[in-house]
Amino acid sequence: MNWTLPVVILNFKAYREAIGPGAERLAYVAETVSRETGVTVAVAVQPTDVYRISSRHEIPVLAQHVDPQREGSWTGHVTALALKEAGAAGSLVNHSERRLGASEIAGAVEALREEGLVSVVCADTPRVARAVAALEPDFVAIEPPELIGTGISVSKAKPEVVTDSIARIRSLGLNVPVVCGAGISGPDDVARAIELGTVGVLISSAYVKARDPQSFLTSVCEAALETFRRR
Ligand code: G3P
Repeated sequence: MNWTLPVVILNFKAYREAIGPGAERLAYVAETVSRETGVTVAVAVQPTDVYRISSRHEIPVLAQHVDPQREGSWTGHVTALALKEAGAAGSLVNHSERRLGASEIAGAVEALREEGLVSVVCADTPRVARAVAALEPDFVAIEPPELIGTGISVSKAKPEVVTDSIARIRSLGLNVPVVCGAGISGPDDVARAIELGTVGVLISSAYVKARDPQSFLTSVCEAALETFRRR
């Protein structure tokens, strides 16, 4: 994985504004802001949009989900190989809105690794964060589900969830980078997340629903960069 830090991961989920042509519009803005600020901005899109976005935009494209199955007789599964062939840089794994069992998480991380793809494994609690960090993914993403989509930032409302996750991961002697998400709505939330020890954030609704996504994302990237440099 050769992403420069900090990172901002924009999760497009299944929002109407962020599918098909909407995904292209928001990916174009993300690409522009990433180029202007120098911050790594990745977009996590529907599997059906991976090729559309990756073939037209110079930013890392993640899938929102990958299955652990490898090639073969698996109907309807999203494989790491298929994502790679579609141009994905990697995938989210075990998002709160697309949970997997423990063995499936391990299989998905391994499948991504085999294809040379980036794994961003989500955890809903510090205990789960430590468990998934043991798989040594590229990133652990801590997101308390009760704050997702609320506009109340995890970094301000529940900072202990972030710091406890990082402490538990480091107690294993692991240096896996940690990002956080849920309710992040502006540059202050991002700065706080990085002050807590993360290397970046995941954002969905505040970006997808922003009246001016470009100025929103610019302010977020500038805050991320400035705080990360100062740390
Ligand atoms: O993956 C990021 C996401 O779950 C956070 O959603 O809408 O609270 O930014 P949101």
